[in-house]
Amino acid sequence: MKHITIVGNWKSNKRTSEAESWVASFAELIKPERDKLKEMTIIIAPSFTALSTMKQAIKTYEVPILLASQNISPFGMGAYTGEVNATEIKELADYVIIGHSERRKYFAEDDVVLERKVDQAKSAGLKVIYCVPDANTRVPTGVDIVGYEPVWAIGTGRTDTPDNANAVVKTIKERTGASITVYGGSVVSENVASFVSTETIDGVLPGGASMDPQKFVSLVMNAVV
Ligand code: PGA
Repeated sequence: MKHITIVGNWKSNKRTSEAESWVASFAELIKPERDKLKEMTIIIAPSFTALSTMKQAIKTYEVPILLASQNISPFGMGAYTGEVNATEIKELADYVIIGHSERRKYFAEDDVVLERKVDQAKSAGLKVIYCVPDANTRVPTGVDIVGYEPVWAIGTGRTDTPDNANAVVKTIKERTGASITVYGGSVVSENVASFVSTETIDGVLPGGASMDPQKFVSLVMNAVV
């Protein structure tokens, strides 16, 4: 059986109390199907403000969820007002998403700053989920998961075809040596199987479909191939 990785990206959406009740609902809904999670890695990326509460809730409800931060400072500890650095994140999460197209677009993050972020993450022991919009975009060395996310598919209800997504991640794997690759862009419970059953795609990165616990649990169950 293929090991599947699912990364739920909540973006700038949930308050702390909503994040906590999501974990409670997920725990309840997944109960009858828990065995199926053995072949999966489930990672949720909430806002910084919800990480601490999520960490506690995951312990309380004993759910096999790992946490990711959606962003990280390109600097270490120090006089960088408003930034959250890798060492601080490492206390609360195991992963960090770097290079998401929304960071590239709205915050003008380029290859130089993204590489600095990867360096910071790696030196603090965080695992990196690195997003790229195509097979040609630079991927810094040492990232753990590469997410292929075509910009036109994000939040639009339009997905890449599984065949093309598979071909793109295959190129990315060959070019970068990445061991895990996921596809993101309008992944929902109805189409998840078509992506994870391809030869090379190891998982998915849903945004919208990870927000509602019921929809997310359906997506997770349909990813068991
Ligand atoms: P979407 O978002 O699933 O809502 O398209 C994916 C992402 O931006 O990571």
